[in-house]
Amino acid sequence: MQQITDKVFYAGVNDRNKNLFEGLWPLPNGVSYNSYLIVDDKVCLVDTVEVDFFMAYIKNIQEVLGDRRIDYLVVNHMEPDHSGAIELIRKYYPEIQIVGNKKTFDMMRGFYGIEENRVEVKNGDTISLGEHTMRFVMTPMVHWPETMMTLLENTAENGQPTERILFSGDAFGCFGALNGGLVDSQINCSEFWLEMVRYYSNIVGKYGTPVQNALKKLAGVHLDYICSTHGPVWHENIARVTDMYDRMSRYETEEGLVICYGTMYGNTERAAEVIARAASEAGIKNIVMYNVSKTHHSYIIRDVFRYRGLIVGAPTYNTGLYHEMDVLLDELSNRDIKNHCLGWFGSYAWASKAVARIEEWNTNHLHFEPTGTPVEIKQSLDADTTAQCVALGKAMAERLKKQTL
Ligand code: FEO
Repeated sequence: MQQITDKVFYAGVNDRNKNLFEGLWPLPNGVSYNSYLIVDDKVCLVDTVEVDFFMAYIKNIQEVLGDRRIDYLVVNHMEPDHSGAIELIRKYYPEIQIVGNKKTFDMMRGFYGIEENRVEVKNGDTISLGEHTMRFVMTPMVHWPETMMTLLENTAENGQPTERILFSGDAFGCFGALNGGLVDSQINCSEFWLEMVRYYSNIVGKYGTPVQNALKKLAGVHLDYICSTHGPVWHENIARVTDMYDRMSRYETEEGLVICYGTMYGNTERAAEVIARAASEAGIKNIVMYNVSKTHHSYIIRDVFRYRGLIVGAPTYNTGLYHEMDVLLDELSNRDIKNHCLGWFGSYAWASKAVARIEEWNTNHLHFEPTGTPVEIKQSLDADTTAQCVALGKAMAERLKKQTL
C-alpha cells in the first residue's frame, strides 16, 4: 500500500510489457497508469487504469479499502489508458457515482455504453468528501476535449485550506514505470526529465495554447502535490515541472541544433557531418544528430522541442522525398511548433526532388523561419557543395546566436 498523504493513497499499476504507447511511442522504461484513492468520510477513486491490468489494480484498491465501498469515481480523462477499467470497477462497486463533465459522458456512452449513476460537473463545481473538498477545473485539450483536473483541498476551520493536491490527468506526466518509489522525494528523478519532454512533445505537444490556458487557471494556487496519470507524484519538484510545462507550451527553447538526415549510402550523411562541424566551429555547443531511419521519431520530436534550430536533409527517392523524412516532417507539422529556424539540404542521383519537397513542407505546413541557403547535392559532395554545407551550418549558428525569434 502506498500512501501519499493522510487520506490519499496510490492504486495505480506499472506496464513494463508494452513496446509502444498508443501503438506509436517507444517505452524503453515502461509506463505507469496512475490512479488514486481519497479515503475521507466518503471514498473517491480518481481515474482508473488500462483494462489489461485490472486484477493488479483491484487488489491495490482492496488493500487500501478492505470491504469499504467507493462513493465516487472521478474521470479526469477518457483516453482508455485511464478509463479502460471503468466497466469492471462498476461490477465490483455497482453503486459508484461517476463524476465527469458533459463531454466525459458523451465519450463514456460511446466507449462503454454507460448512461447511469453519473454526476455532471462544470468548471468550479465542488463535491465535499468530509474533511476534503474536490474542486473541478476544466482543462480542455490537455489532452482531449473532455479533460479536466481535480483540486483536492482540506476544509480548514478559518476557511483557508492548508493542503492542496492537484489530480492533473496527463499534464505533468511522463513515460517510465515507477520502480518502487512513487513521490519524487523518494526517488532519483534524473531519468524522468527527458522522458517528460518526450511525453509532452509527443502526446500533448500540439496543444500549447490549451496548456497555457490550464496553467492560467491554476496560477497562484499553492500546490503540495501534483498527482498525474503517468510517472512520479510531484512534491519537491512542483516548481520545476510547472515551469517545464510553461516553457514547453510556449515553445520556448534553448540555443541548440538538431540535425536530422536520411541516408542510403552515406553521401547525405557526409553533408550532415560538414554542416554540424561548421555549426560547432561557429560556437553552437548543443548539437544533436540523428539518422531518421535509425532513431525513433519520438526522440527527434523531443529534441526539436528542446532546441531552436533544425536542419534536415535527405535523398530524393522515387521522384519524391525519402520516406522516413516525409513522415518526420508530417509529424512535426502536426504539432504547430513555433519559434524555430529551419535549414535543409538534399541529394539526388539523376533527378532532384528532395530539396524542393522539404521547402514545400516548410512553406505549406511547418512555417519555421528559413535559415541559410538550401544545399542540393548531385550524387556526392564536391568542393562547391561542401562549401555550401559549411555556409549553411554557419548561417544557422549565426541565426541561433541572435536569440530572438
Ligand atoms: Fe494518458 Fe491522454 O492519456
